[in-house]
Amino acid sequence: MKILVLNGPNLNLLGLREPDIYGRQTYSDLERFVESCAKEEGVEIKLFQSNHEGALVDEIQAAYGNFDGIVINPAAYTHTSVAILDALKAVSLPAVEVHLSDVSKREAFRQISYPGMACLKTYMGLGFEGYRQALRFLKAYLEGAKR
Ligand code: DQA
Repeated sequence: MKILVLNGPNLNLLGLREPDIYGRQTYSDLERFVESCAKEEGVEIKLFQSNHEGALVDEIQAAYGNFDGIVINPAAYTHTSVAILDALKAVSLPAVEVHLSDVSKREAFRQISYPGMACLKTYMGLGFEGYRQALRFLKAYLEGAKR
């Protein structure tokens, strides 16, 4: 089972950016965490982070036929990107959305998620743990789909 784990803009600055909201752990810490969760779950993953909307769209398109599912934290593109929503719909791979912070309790402009409209589920406000939950959910979903 192969899962693509996508992270959007400014998540490469974890640790530095707004630590009160996103914590003090770095993006490398997140990569290590997600890799260890994937090992625990027995799934193969590819991690990809970009600050560019088109690069994320390209990666979603390239996942078609190569990955079984997608975990995505679109970061700020959550609230703006119809292009990422359309890419997820186009490839039609089961996808799960993750946010480190609880966006439901933040600014009004964060209350809409375009990519979320093509996702089976959203985990928010759990920090890194959200990625573990997302991988677990997707694995169980994909196993169910095979039966
Ligand atoms: C985020 C929440 C977004 O609103 C924000 O733009 C981010 C990170 C999160 O993980 O909590 O960059 O996706």
